[in-house]
Amino acid sequence: MQDTWEKFSGVTVWLHWLVAVAIIGLLAVGLIMDEFRGLGLTPIHKSIGVLVFLLVLVRVGWRLKSGWPEPVSTYPKIEQILAKLTHWTLVICTLLMPISGMMMSGAGGRGFGIFGLQIVAANPDPANPGKVIPYNETIGGVGHEMHEIVSTVLMIAIGLHIVGALKHHMLDKDGTLRRMLGQNISAPTS
Ligand code: HEM
Ligand code: HEM
Repeated sequence: MQDTWEKFSGVTVWLHWLVAVAIIGLLAVGLIMDEFRGLGLTPIHKSIGVLVFLLVLVRVGWRLKSGWPEPVSTYPKIEQILAKLTHWTLVICTLLMPISGMMMSGAGGRGFGIFGLQIVAANPDPANPGKVIPYNETIGGVGHEMHEIVSTVLMIAIGLHIVGALKHHMLDKDGTLRRMLGQNISAPTS
């Protein structure tokens, strides 16, 4: 269960793709929610978002324990810096998105949970049916702002990251993408 230069462990590969698919899915659902109100997608978005937070924590723990993967080859300094910067941005944003979401929904009085399992209860306003009273308006507001700003940064970072992965695969023709797909890159490609 150790990452080596030629082959990544199953933990690294599975965590990467689970988090990647979940984050891209949540970004898409979030944008749809933003564009078309009233589709009822918010509870699913929140539930999956909280689950992704747990997965991201496991992933960060795994990175702290096993360190960053070694680059496949020696690349120009600027590429190395760009890759490092993008990876750090991705990790920090994947932490900040669920944290800001929970701040917005929790402190904002709307509440959240995981598929019916309540974590923070909503705080309905008895005087205004259908409305809620924030537990803490400042924290809720900061969470909302953060959720919007960080989602934009995250989308740019993911775009750069995918371009980088494709560049390695198609232009450099190295094993960077194949290694993240679980393949042994010291083995000859057929
Ligand atoms: C884990 C990764 C997450 C991603 C990538 C994500 C992404 C997004 C995006 C792109 C939007 C639309 C932009 C906006 O209006 O802010 C959005 C909206 C929203 N998200 Fe998330 N989200 C995540 C987690 C969460 C969590 C954990 C919660 C709450 C527990 C949450 C609650 C919400 C709510 C309530 C909205 C609607 C905001 C509004 O009314 O304007 N999100 N999310
Ligand atoms: C289609 C989408 C994606 C592709 C093709 C892709 C591809 C890759 C590849 C090839 C690597 C290995 C880089 C190396 O060996 O240095 C990698 C690493 C990484 N990817 Fe992605 N990725 C995608 C989506 C994402 C998303 C959505 C996130 C997070 C939001 C993400 C976060 C990371 C991080 C943090 C690393 C650093 C290594 C690690 O922590 O395991 N990726 N990705």
